[in-house]
This record gives sequence, structure tokens and C-alpha cells, in this order.
Amino acid sequence: MSTAMTLPTDLGAKTAKPKFITVEEAKTLDIKRMYELFTAHMNPGQLHFMKLLGFHKIKIERAEGMYYYDQDGRKILDFFGGFGSLAFGHNHPRILEARRKFAEEKRQEIAIAFLSQYATALAYNLAACSPGDLDMVFLGSSGSEAMEAAIKVAERAAGPARPKIVYAENSFHGKTKGVLSITDGPLYRGQFKLVDNTVRVPFGDIDAVEAAFKSDPAIGTIVLETVQGGGGIIEADADFWPKLRALCDKYGVLWVADEVQCGFGRTGKFYAFEHYGVVPDVTALAKSLGGGKAAVGAMIARRDVYMKAYGTPKTAMIHAMATFGGIGEASVTSIEALNVLYDEGLIDNAAEVGDYLIAELGTLQRRYPALLKEVRGRGMMVGLEFHDFSQAMPMVLRPVMSALDDKLKGSLPGFVGSHLLRDHGVLVAFTEYNRNVIRLEPPLICTRANVDEFITALDEVMSRGVVKIVTDFVRAQVR
Ligand SMILES: Cc1ncc(COP(=O)(O)O)c(C=O)c1O
Repeated sequence: MSTAMTLPTDLGAKTAKPKFITVEEAKTLDIKRMYELFTAHMNPGQLHFMKLLGFHKIKIERAEGMYYYDQDGRKILDFFGGFGSLAFGHNHPRILEARRKFAEEKRQEIAIAFLSQYATALAYNLAACSPGDLDMVFLGSSGSEAMEAAIKVAERAAGPARPKIVYAENSFHGKTKGVLSITDGPLYRGQFKLVDNTVRVPFGDIDAVEAAFKSDPAIGTIVLETVQGGGGIIEADADFWPKLRALCDKYGVLWVADEVQCGFGRTGKFYAFEHYGVVPDVTALAKSLGGGKAAVGAMIARRDVYMKAYGTPKTAMIHAMATFGGIGEASVTSIEALNVLYDEGLIDNAAEVGDYLIAELGTLQRRYPALLKEVRGRGMMVGLEFHDFSQAMPMVLRPVMSALDDKLKGSLPGFVGSHLLRDHGVLVAFTEYNRNVIRLEPPLICTRANVDEFITALDEVMSRGVVKIVTDFVRAQVR
């Protein structure tokens, strides 16, 4: 009797299995246990901020559309939107279905050995919704990876005599070391040894750009977010962009538009640069490109730029896709995401409901001028800037309080955000550089009714006035 073809299920493994948590056990971890695990194995310092805002008491059990649902079944309206990663809201049914079918059909995932029908289709779709000859696509797994690909393709195309990159004050392009070198946050730069071929200019200052191009022929690339997200939702004047395009053409500098946060329909056009009738040489997308379910980033370059950089068999592998670039289920998720974006008119919805949101916030700003300094943004990328603490205080306290403004920056929006969450079940986002800014990047499926719900909550919190906002916060901390 032959047993050669029968594989025993127990291979007599000698390697002992560690005491793992299973998937089902993971789902049932309670707050206390998650807190312990985060402290022991992840980022204990980060808990400080989560505790201040009250985030550490919430366990999300489910998420659907515009809402999270916590351990007590409470709904939380999501105006944070994962910093722009949730254009479709949570668990969009068409995106779930595409993923489910793909898994059930046991399709292939890794796109390295053979041509992938999914990666090639996604590349085609991205070229189809990108203007001009932005036709060549590199797929990765994050915004940082897409932006790394962007600065590398530009540097190769610019040639070895022109390796310098111009970037902007208050920029954010990611945390991997290449793009960290053109990210303007001292906190993130963290005294790392970064690449030194960079030149910093004020954002939106065309004269500074021209002065840099003129004075340094080694500059080959300029990298700019079309709308600065981490900087606090900052736009350049509309005429900056055509002037930038003209300057880049004149000096032979390649323009990389970082659309990781502001792209994918968020501002009411697929790319934010489309508002200005110009096309960059290279761009990058991530966040909602993954449909809120997959980690996908893409660099999209003009064909001649790409071909100069990697167009021959000898150069093709210099920056070919990484292991997970174009992976099957992620690509299929993005293909479906792009189809849903247009089928459901979400770009137009971002423009229309975004206008409504900004108008309603303007009304609140006029109602609470001592608290709110400015409302700005476009579509569903909105910044709500609060005054420094001293300016929001009663007149008699201002001179004393103003000495503390720097230290207290960000605390007023922090207090307001924590009240919104605790008392109204509304989630908002904060901002890296200008901490006085609350960032609103709700899913693009957001309706006027969702905006009304949000505005009613914000109105109630601001109607308390600054003193009660502070005392309520302190009371909640000691509770
Ligand atoms: C404009 C911009 N570029 C790049 C990135 C980096 O993306 P990721 O966090 O996916 O690496 C971000 C992330 O917030 C971003 O806002």
C-alpha cells in the first residue's frame, strides 16, 4: 500500500507555535487590553494625545457610509475621513462586492512574474482620467511611496547635472527619507540626516520660485502640493499655477504636483490642478485611490519624462514596482473605486456639498468671531482656523494669556474636537503645522443632511463660549 500521495495534516511540526491571538479573539479585545498592547508593542507616547482627546475610550466595532459605530452602538459622524482616504465612506457596497468576488475566484495577487490584467487595467484607467500626456503609471502602496517614485522619475529625467529639488514652506510629502527631505516639518524631520539637494521657497510665491530657478541651474525639479493639507488647507493664488507652468517650461524644470491628499475628486475636480487649466509633468495619488479598503499609491508621469528616466531595458528596472506594487485585490479595489467615483457623481457632489459646507461654516464664523478666525478650502477639503487662545478670551485676560499663546496653540481646536466627539459623536481632524486649524475632509458621499448634523453640533459647542469650552474639557479629564 502506497501512502506517497497522502499529505498528513499534522506534519509533526517541531516548532512550537507562540501563544498568538487569533482573528476572532482580536475582534473581541476590549479597550483595556488594546491599551496594554498598544503600550507594550506600538507607540506608548501617542496615547498621550489620544487620552487628551478622549479617543482612547472608543472601540470601533463597525463602520458604514458616513459613520463609525462604537462598542455601545453609538454612531460617530466621520468628518475626518482618514485625512482624505475615505472618499466612498466606510465599506462602500460596490467596492466590497468587487473584493469579495475577486477573493472567491481565487485570482492571482502578486504582479511580478506575469503580466497582470488588474494592474494594467488600473494603469489604463488612471491615464484615462489624467489630462495631457500623464500616461505612465507606477503603482505602490502609500502616498510616500508614490511621491518617492515621483521625485526619482523627475531626477532621472532632469539628468545628473540637475539633481536639486525646490519645495515649499509648510509642505508635507511623506515620512520616508527621500520625501522627508522635502517635507517642511521640524517634528517629522527629527534631526535625521536628509538629502541635501533641496531649496525651500515660500508656498505660492512665484517671484521666489523664479529667483531660485534663475540663480541655480542645478535645480531640475519643483515639488508642490496643489493644496497644502498638513500646512492647514492653504491654496496659492489662482494665477500662481499658470505662471509656474510657464516658468518650468522656460527654465526646463519638471513640476511634480503632489495630489495625494487634494486629488481624487476632493476639491471638486479629479485633480486640484485642473482648477487652474494647467498640467504638471508628474503627479501622485494615494489615500482614496484604495477605495477605503486597500493601500494603493500611484505616480503618474508624462510619457516623455518616464521614457527619459526608465525607457530602455537597461534602465527599466531602476525603479520598477516593488513587491506589492499592482497587487491583485488592491488593483481591483482601485479599478472599482474609480468607476464608482464617476458613476455616483462624487466629484460633482464634493463641489456642491463642499460649497454648502463652506457657506454654513462662514455663517458660524460670523456668529462666533472671537473663536473662529477663518474658514477656507475648496470642495471637501476645508480648514477651520481658530484664533490664538488669548484672542478668544475676555478682553481683560488677553494681555496675560498672550504670553502662553505659543504653548497653547492647538488647544482650542483640540478642546472643541474632543467636545464634538464626546457630546455629539462627531469626529474631526487636526493639522500638523498650524495646530489652530481643524481639518474637515469628510467622505465625498457626504450629503447636505450630514453637513447640517455637523454644523448643529459645532454650533452647540461654540455657543458655550471659550471659558465653558475650557472648563468642560478640564472636567472631562478629571472624570
Ligand atoms: C500631500 C501628501 N503627500 C504625501 C503623503 C504621504 O502619504 P502616506 O501617508 O500614504 O505615505 C501625505 C499623507 O498625508 C500627504 O498628505
